[in-house]
Amino acid sequence: MRIIGTGVALPQLRVTNDMIAKYVDTSDEWVASRTGIKERRIISTESLIDLGAQAAKDAVAAAGIDMADVDLLICSNVANSYVTPSLGCIIQGKIDATCPCFDINNACAGFLTALDMADGYITSGRYKNILIICAEEPSRIVDWTSREACILFGDAASAAVVTDGEGLKKIKLSTKSLPDVLYYRRKLEYNPFVTKDQGEYKPLQMNGREVFKMAVSASVADIKKVVEDTGWKMEDVDMFVLHQANLRIIDSIRQHLDLPEEKVPHNVERSGNTSSACIPILLNELIAEGKIKKGYKIVFSAFGAGFSSAAATYEWK
Ligand code: ACO
Repeated sequence: MRIIGTGVALPQLRVTNDMIAKYVDTSDEWVASRTGIKERRIISTESLIDLGAQAAKDAVAAAGIDMADVDLLICSNVANSYVTPSLGCIIQGKIDATCPCFDINNACAGFLTALDMADGYITSGRYKNILIICAEEPSRIVDWTSREACILFGDAASAAVVTDGEGLKKIKLSTKSLPDVLYYRRKLEYNPFVTKDQGEYKPLQMNGREVFKMAVSASVADIKKVVEDTGWKMEDVDMFVLHQANLRIIDSIRQHLDLPEEKVPHNVERSGNTSSACIPILLNELIAEGKIKKGYKIVFSAFGAGFSSAAATYEWK
């Protein structure tokens, strides 16, 4: 399986830390020093559906195929205003695709999860060209009256087209059921027959320190495992494209693996954590800047709510 095109659509509005400090008790100094994030894009006037459609069209154009050649659409999304139908189904209608579509939710590990599924479909011969869309609007699940989580996230859509061929080497997904460290619990409709206590509905709740520790240990272990399973040495890898949650997490993973700074690119300072959209956004930037060369050995790694994590080795063709 190989990646043949990527696309990104970002909201217009740039929200700096100072802008957030007008609503919650925080500061640019605190956010920048604790997370590396200086600004993020937030959806104000656009719709997530339109951003997803734009990223998808750009990825298909970059792949040099027609929308009619897309055999399957997998959309990764944590939450949006439609619970049903799936976001992928809605986006399909905006991009004139006709293939089957469905959503997956594996939080920030969503892109690599979709890549793993796509690889299975392609390897089995079921589908050839698969469009993966990662459309995320975390700004609508965080609590904007509390400073803990709203500073971390940004909204975005990104997409990638994958097809048969050489590229993906190994991919590994892991899940450890720890819902309490990071969750968003939304309200369901009134039902006159429900008598049990339904618990509390909450905007995104996060044990930041626990997530930090788990993110670093999971990512370091996943990367070591996929690199070893591929038969590579860590020093053979040219680029580590990591989930963009926090610059301190990225730095800590880099230090644990003893990697040089130039092999671990980041854009979290400009985008914040865009959940599953992060990796294709960074990949799209690196491709546009000519920083990924033919034959490059690449490692992808992501982690998020679940607690779920994923890593992959990939040779750029
Ligand atoms: N502004 C100012 N002060 C703050 C803020 C803020 N935005 N947030 C917390 N503080 C305060 C706390 O209240 C605390 O104050 P106290 O000492 O008086 O109690 C102090 O700063 C230190 O808080 P900590 O939580 O210990 O700060 P820490 O250095 O751990 O940084 C952070 C917090 C940035 C959340 C960090 O733990 C982190 O990045 N964790 C990972 C979070 C993450 O990546 N989540 C997304 C995962 S991916 C996904 O699937 C969604």
